[in-house]
Amino acid sequence: MSSSRIIYVMFVVILVFGLRNKCLGARDFKIRSLVALSSPNSTYHYDVDSNVVDVTTLGAKGDGETDDTKAFLAVWQAACEKDSATLLIPSDYQFLVGPLTFLGPCKSNILFKVDGDVIAPVNPKAWASKPLNWMNFSKLNGITIVGDGTFDGQGAAWWKNSEQEDTVNAKVEANYQSLRPTAIRFYGSYDVTVQDITIRNTPQFHLKFDSCTSLYVFNFTTSSPANSPNTDGIHLQNSEDVEIHHSTLACGDDCVSIQTGCSGIRVHNINCGPGHGISIGSLGKDRTKACVSNVSVYDSDIHDASNGVRIKTWQGGIGQVKSVSFSNIEVSNVKVPINVDQFYCDKKVCSNQTSGVFISDVTYEKITGTYSQTPVYLACSDEMPCTDLKLINIELEPVGANENDPFCWNSYGDQENGVECLQPGRPPNDPSHTQSPDEKC
Ligand SMILES: *[C@@H]1O[C@H](CO)[C@@H](O)[C@H](O)[C@H]1NC(C)=O
Ligand SMILES: *[C@@H]1O[C@H](CO)[C@@H](O)[C@H](O)[C@H]1NC(C)=O
Ligand SMILES: *[C@@H]1O[C@H](CO)[C@@H](O)[C@H](O)[C@H]1NC(C)=O
Ligand SMILES: *[C@@H]1O[C@H](CO)[C@@H](O)[C@H](O)[C@H]1NC(C)=O
Repeated sequence: MSSSRIIYVMFVVILVFGLRNKCLGARDFKIRSLVALSSPNSTYHYDVDSNVVDVTTLGAKGDGETDDTKAFLAVWQAACEKDSATLLIPSDYQFLVGPLTFLGPCKSNILFKVDGDVIAPVNPKAWASKPLNWMNFSKLNGITIVGDGTFDGQGAAWWKNSEQEDTVNAKVEANYQSLRPTAIRFYGSYDVTVQDITIRNTPQFHLKFDSCTSLYVFNFTTSSPANSPNTDGIHLQNSEDVEIHHSTLACGDDCVSIQTGCSGIRVHNINCGPGHGISIGSLGKDRTKACVSNVSVYDSDIHDASNGVRIKTWQGGIGQVKSVSFSNIEVSNVKVPINVDQFYCDKKVCSNQTSGVFISDVTYEKITGTYSQTPVYLACSDEMPCTDLKLINIELEPVGANENDPFCWNSYGDQENGVECLQPGRPPNDPSHTQSPDEKC
């Protein structure tokens, strides 16, 4: 059989399997991922079924000026009550839509087909008093957002206010800034796919998942300027079983940010930059407990970024980051390609604390390319040294002529071929012995 026939047969098998196992989305998800991996250049299969609800049939004008929020809500409610519905945002239209909650659960899986463009109101004052999210998808089970359309958050007005922080009443301004909306947020959802769409100029994060399971992001694009504040590309928290791949993420903060409560995360074939790289954390703020495990990031390019792959934790937190690997990452003009910062601090000075989030079993393999500041910066805490680190085939050259030494502090593990900076063996105050049961994950 030719490979396309094999793939076709697999699709049929998956379709049948998927239909028979609607409530077993996790299994469906895993098989689907395998197909996507075996043919990374083709979209995964979906059907636009006959149950299409088009936003223009329920009153949306799509002229870029009329407020189409009500029509979007009506079309969602209609789709949500149907068996296997497709919600269509047709091409050649531009829909002006304010903050919206797409609340589930729905009667069946929803295909949210975005062929046209959706734009947010420009003036932050036109938003509700506490928007927080622009598109708020909540409590859904089985949803796919796909299409070559764009969500434009028109964030410039929000970013500008951030620059003016010093000139206006700082407290009011800080409060206002904390309201900057995320463009698309999924909460408490299961079996979510985001494919092909673009999100640009977001006021805050582009795509956020909170308390979700079985997530699949493929051929996704974000585009916001390097100086737009807190515009993470994809922000994950309390989420499990996630695959993000073949996506182009340009933003003003982390391309992918992995926060507490995440495990089973695979990120690969990402083109990241400009931005702050791919990060775990920051974790343990305000003495909280943070647990992150089983994360792998591989086969990716990071360029024009402040960091490559980074783990950042606040002092005073508890918990653990473990079983993480970063491999085959090509960096270009990245300030600090490999970064662990257990002294993360957003003020000038943060006092040293006696607890920290324990970092162990982190492998860096084949990280190559150019840095503009420090090739490897591992600043682990005095109380909670990092253990079982591996640096293998690290080949980093300075962008200019000035070569800088790697920096390693309280970092223990093994190294081969390249950077030599870790201490061998285990620290005298090994956290795997000193962490108390409530500090552990
Ligand atoms: C998002 O939707 C949830 C419903 O699950 C609601 O409680 C929450 O207030 C909404 N958030 C925003 C910012 O719209
Ligand atoms: C990726 O998405 C774009 C639309 O943004 C689409 O034109 C293209 O065909 C998709 N590529 C793949 C490989 O699916
Ligand atoms: C790690 O996560 C992957 C999914 O990314 C999952 O298949 C695997 O079972 C997990 N491994 C462990 C030890 O939990
Ligand atoms: C915290 O500890 C680090 C490492 O020992 C040291 O470099 C730094 O100066 C300390 N910071 C403060 C504020 O004491």
